[in-house]
Amino acid sequence: MVYPETRPRRLRTSSTMRKLVCETRLNPADLMYPLFVCPGREIKDPIGSMTDCFHLSAENAANEAKEVAKLGIPAVILFGLPEHKDPTGSGAWSPDSAVAESIKRIKEAVPELVVATDVCLCAYTDHGHCGVIENGRIENDKTCDLLGKMALAHVRAGADIIAPSDMMDGRVGVIRKVLDAEQLVDTAIMAYSAKYASAYYGPFRDAVHSIPSEGDRKSYQMDPGNSKEAMREIRLDIEEGADIVMVKPALAYLDIIRMAQDAFEVPVAAYNVSGEYMMLNAAADAGLIDREQAIMETLLSFKRAGADIIITYFAKTAAQWLS
Ligand code: PBG
Ligand code: ZN
Repeated sequence: MVYPETRPRRLRTSSTMRKLVCETRLNPADLMYPLFVCPGREIKDPIGSMTDCFHLSAENAANEAKEVAKLGIPAVILFGLPEHKDPTGSGAWSPDSAVAESIKRIKEAVPELVVATDVCLCAYTDHGHCGVIENGRIENDKTCDLLGKMALAHVRAGADIIAPSDMMDGRVGVIRKVLDAEQLVDTAIMAYSAKYASAYYGPFRDAVHSIPSEGDRKSYQMDPGNSKEAMREIRLDIEEGADIVMVKPALAYLDIIRMAQDAFEVPVAAYNVSGEYMMLNAAADAGLIDREQAIMETLLSFKRAGADIIITYFAKTAAQWLS
């Protein structure tokens, strides 16, 4: 009979022993919470495709922000809906857009909360694409100019972080130049650098009514099979001035999160997207998995893979469980 000399189970004998040797812990400070803001007043409409998510008008966004801060979550990221959609998405750079109004209200209510804004045209264009269309193609450079205008409007309203999610080439550099020219040198850029053309954005597109009327996003978002290309996109964004880089989605791209953490010196954010969120909710609703355990295990996997920041619709729930 040969019994083992090495017994890893010794370190699992009690919950305190397990706590002592635990390598990765989640903290509310790791999380960023997305908010959907819309024009109008006193609006808090449930989003049909996303459990526990709402379309909020500015003052309700500020109320929500107060709760988020109380839970120890350091940041929110705002997604806006426009008054009207048009071919160029002009509602995006309006000085009194829902996003601009919400930033102001949030900053009045909780000045210390970090406010990031998603910068992309798809919720503002009538065709639902992330860029302007000319001769049936998404025009890269013209789109970058419009994203620069959008970013500037958000920063003038008080945004701390600009998060471009469009995947146009060179947009980080354009936005940085536009901001620096206005002496807005302290605003950080969190680039959606490795953003894949994913089926997991379905519930979100429903929420902001941005399903492309024609075609798909594969001419700008990345092919799910590529990882070298992800490193290239991240490197370019950092060279153009990105302060934080993002991998999106998170769950199907844990390898990319790890590669990014190992290869670069800036913080890495992971976006746990709407489809991943609803997939867990659906399985828990069906009684197939334990809700709390499955959610916490999933969020932990992002951190273990190397994420410094986790953007998730579970942020409030998770922070409550952690406290
Ligand atoms: C806009 C944008 C999308 C998401 C974040 N910003 C959708 C898309 O690219 O189609 C997805 C977020 C989610 O699914 O939770 N470009
Ligand atoms: Zn977009």
